[in-house]
Amino acid sequence: MTSFKAMLGASAIALMATTGAAQADKLTFYCSAQEDWCQLMANSFQDATGIDVAMTRKSSGETFAQIKAESSNPKGDIWWGGTGDPHLQAAEEGLTAEYMSPMRDQLHPWAISQAESAGNKTIGIYSGALGYGYNTDLLAANNLPEPACWEDLLKPEYKGHVQMANPNSSGTAYTTLASMVQIFGEDGGFDFMKGLHANINQYTKSGSAPIKAAGRGENTIGIVFMHDAVAQAVSGFPVKVVAPCEGTGYEIGSMSIIDGARNMDSAKAFYDWALSAEAQNLALQVNAFQVPSNVGAETSQSAPDMSTIKLIDYDFKTYGSSDERKRLLKKWDDEVSILPQ
Ligand code: G6P
Repeated sequence: MTSFKAMLGASAIALMATTGAAQADKLTFYCSAQEDWCQLMANSFQDATGIDVAMTRKSSGETFAQIKAESSNPKGDIWWGGTGDPHLQAAEEGLTAEYMSPMRDQLHPWAISQAESAGNKTIGIYSGALGYGYNTDLLAANNLPEPACWEDLLKPEYKGHVQMANPNSSGTAYTTLASMVQIFGEDGGFDFMKGLHANINQYTKSGSAPIKAAGRGENTIGIVFMHDAVAQAVSGFPVKVVAPCEGTGYEIGSMSIIDGARNMDSAKAFYDWALSAEAQNLALQVNAFQVPSNVGAETSQSAPDMSTIKLIDYDFKTYGSSDERKRLLKKWDDEVSILPQ
């Protein structure tokens, strides 16, 4: 078995040696990945270090908004998980702190370029492609054709059968909006979102909720990251996963230390630990099928094979910039969400 110390990065070991547990015994952990993974990360880090972890799970856009609202008196120490765009926006707005982890040389280049594009105020922890999934039983019961492309979702027969999250709260849904703009162009992308709106039965707060609802038989089609749809299928629900024919966007799930963190040493210890292969392998215990950023971590056999999916060259720099994210969200609020359904 791997020892606790072997699982920790260099700064965590230094921290334990120099400060002892008494001064470094707390961590306020904001998590934007799936709830059970957040819980497992919190408990495992606490077990490994003795540092007391208080974890809250909120969606990516919501956590960004919270960190911004608390910026004059920061309450969180570390933000782990969720789509990279709001982490990049937080870096640009000075809400997160620069940190060079000694674990960095163990990471895939895509994780490091995320850090480099943000002055090392964030870093990639996993990646995953956007797509959708549908409940095969409900599709058949409603005599609906099998969708294979993004544009299929605009067909009138899917009215009331499609669910996605609200892009203001959810990183998944913002990735959807930004991907449509990149695939179809600005006007075409907004036309797509307007057409889709006519078929949407509900905008949820959290990104993966639409496919969980499909798994339970309460919704037919959910626009989500493909790995979230795989998680439903692997759990035994009648869910089929689609990589849309036009190509699709993807996320670099990210992690950032909150600027002015009260427990900065604990935040750095968590950061180093979360980049280790051992910590990233915890994903396998909770059906989290993202591709991990540590080259030595295992990717599940069930994970969508990114090399076979037609991925767009998602422009993280542009769509993770503060101005662009604000502009697109406002335009979606003003021109899409207000339309009658
Ligand atoms: C799910 C996915 C993650 C993603 C996250 C974003 O948990 O599995 O890969 O980063 O959603 O959550 P959000 O609620 O912000 O869309």
